[in-house]
Amino acid sequence: MSITYFEKEQIFHLQTPNTSYVLGVLDGKHLLHLYYGKRIDEYSSILDNFPIAGELAFSPIDVPEHFMSTNMLPMEYPCYGSADFRSPAFHAEYEDGSSVTCFEYESYEIFKGKKKLSGLPATYVEDESEADTLEITLCDRLTGVRAVLSYSVFNTVDAIAKSVCVKNLGNQTIQLKTALSSTVHLFDKNYEFVHLEGAWAKERSIQKRPLLNGSMQIESKRVTSSHHHSPFVALARPYATETQGDVYGFSFVYSGNHIEQVEVNEFDTARVNVGINPFGFSWQLTPNAEFQTPEVVLTYSDCGFGKMSRTYHKLYRTRLVRGKYRDEQRPVLINNWEATYFDFNEEKILKIASKAQSVGIDLMVLDDGWFGKRNSDNCSLGDWVVDRTKLPDGIESLATKVNEMGMKFGLWFEPEMISEDSDLYRAHPDWCIHVEGRNRTPARQQLMLDLTRAEIRDYIVDSVCSVLKSAPISYVKWDMNRNATELGSKSLPPERQQEFAHRYVLGIYEVMERITSQFPDVLFEGCSGGGGRFDAGMLYYYPQYWTSDNTDGVERLSIQHGTGMVMPASTMGAHISAVPNHQVGRTTPLTFRGHVAMAGQFGYELDLNTLSDEEIEIVKEQVKLYKEIRDVVQKGELYRLASPFEGRNTSWEYVYEDRVVLTYYTIRARSTMGKTCIKLCGLDGDAKYTDTASGKTYSGSYLMNVGLYFEDKKDYSSQLFVFQKQ
Ligand code: DGJ
Repeated sequence: MSITYFEKEQIFHLQTPNTSYVLGVLDGKHLLHLYYGKRIDEYSSILDNFPIAGELAFSPIDVPEHFMSTNMLPMEYPCYGSADFRSPAFHAEYEDGSSVTCFEYESYEIFKGKKKLSGLPATYVEDESEADTLEITLCDRLTGVRAVLSYSVFNTVDAIAKSVCVKNLGNQTIQLKTALSSTVHLFDKNYEFVHLEGAWAKERSIQKRPLLNGSMQIESKRVTSSHHHSPFVALARPYATETQGDVYGFSFVYSGNHIEQVEVNEFDTARVNVGINPFGFSWQLTPNAEFQTPEVVLTYSDCGFGKMSRTYHKLYRTRLVRGKYRDEQRPVLINNWEATYFDFNEEKILKIASKAQSVGIDLMVLDDGWFGKRNSDNCSLGDWVVDRTKLPDGIESLATKVNEMGMKFGLWFEPEMISEDSDLYRAHPDWCIHVEGRNRTPARQQLMLDLTRAEIRDYIVDSVCSVLKSAPISYVKWDMNRNATELGSKSLPPERQQEFAHRYVLGIYEVMERITSQFPDVLFEGCSGGGGRFDAGMLYYYPQYWTSDNTDGVERLSIQHGTGMVMPASTMGAHISAVPNHQVGRTTPLTFRGHVAMAGQFGYELDLNTLSDEEIEIVKEQVKLYKEIRDVVQKGELYRLASPFEGRNTSWEYVYEDRVVLTYYTIRARSTMGKTCIKLCGLDGDAKYTDTASGKTYSGSYLMNVGLYFEDKKDYSSQLFVFQKQ
């Protein structure tokens, strides 16, 4: 059992293999966060070693027994209304107009395994021995409102999944204004706030800034998790590197408005809050109703960012992603988007497929433009009926012909959207998200469907499922190309309109659950104008995600490096596209683009018929090589050896069982020709490793300590090594 309760001391000690998380109940009332970090053997008592110090002035004394204030205490689930002036995790309004909540400890329960979160994505266990769960109930005595704090402690991964269920067991209707998923306290401020910022075509660049007194936060108000700020934050010691230093990771398993906030108070302690963004949020809880927050996955690493990432990769790859493709080999695909955009017909697609088949590609994906009258992005979203001018014999015929060539067939959808120029909009102009009397602001000439309405969710499920049933479709790319504006739904009464953003997210989760469970053999790839909604919540439904619309090899190094902070390589769609690159105009060698794409979920996004014979030979070799190494890349442990955010080169290493894949990329050549030393990690020092191309053998200790030397002679040059352990 990884959770121990010390009754006399009223201490809960949660232990993963290498970490400890300690909670204590002060005077049977106040639930305090006492410690999170490297695993410890014991934690004696709260009062022996109280984790705060400070001047009481202007901190009202609401813990009179100890002449103390909750403003100074590390409250585990801080609520608004009394003496704690820091940002709360919980804030509610009551029928009398007041918003004072005083949560006090009520009870606890410890059980084996981990419960499902109803309607929400979450990490899971396959056997109850994999995790233990602690549930602590807090109670607001005056109103009867309870907060049940849940902690699932994984037994073989250094991760703790936290969430909260608010239960209104009183007899009045309350309005939740803030209900976050997790609060943690760090007892000094010598940390950097590390997060992943971005935009369309520049997703997840690593940002670091020192904590200062006051608040620092990232958030989304776009109804999706967004390109702009991934729902993730790390608190890292300023000296932390890939291999050293304390790093705390907080990854939010949610796809909507989120907030990751750190507040450093006047005593220099840091409170880390993560949850649904309280901005624009309110949730009505009638008597006996419950509100379940999404989960946050916490990890602590004493060996820098690399270990943090490997914990997320392992957990998410094996216990967040579900379904057949969690473990099965993923196909190498070709997508026609950058090859044709909207300008295609059956002949063109079959020509691309035929060439793709001849080089060993497994799956042909038909992207946007196959339905309605969609010859540009200004119409037809919502009309999921094949365009017979482009595909006279329909999807079934095309899919069957692709199958007959020996390849699988995949199809693009953007089901959450509606074009004003569509039959669907003409029939149901009120189905889009809108507020009566206000402008309906288009983005990419499209509006969003109101997924808070059951009949609209049914329409999406029915229309996507009927296409999937009509043809041998093995893969779906599920796109989402805008963020929501003018939030409102006619399904909601005025007092529930502020529930819209979260209800939208619950709506898309329900739709995805219904569709994916009906088609367990179909591989789903998420997409939102590239990696706009590439979050842990989505991985519960889609085992892979289109990482970015930016397919330039150089830009992709940074995008994949940043994305890999949390997301495993098996989830990151990465394709070779044409040069000059369509997004940035850069020309890089085919080999370089290949080595970059092979570091993720490999595929192509161009018309192979435009390549020379010599290039086609390279493509054949690439497909063959990727099929040989895909297990290592997709299931291996990732070591980031050189970062594109820090230098002219990038290097990644994947270690899986007895094989190692090492990549090295030179972005810019150097005039003074000093060599770059790359030291490998994670090997068996006593074992021998043979470079399968050259036959050269090195010891693990040599590769890890002496390393390999690389010359940065040429812009956009790259190497990929496969080592076999002897
Ligand atoms: C945005 C996606 O990210 C692209 O890959 C492509 O599918 C287009 N949408 C199609 O409209």
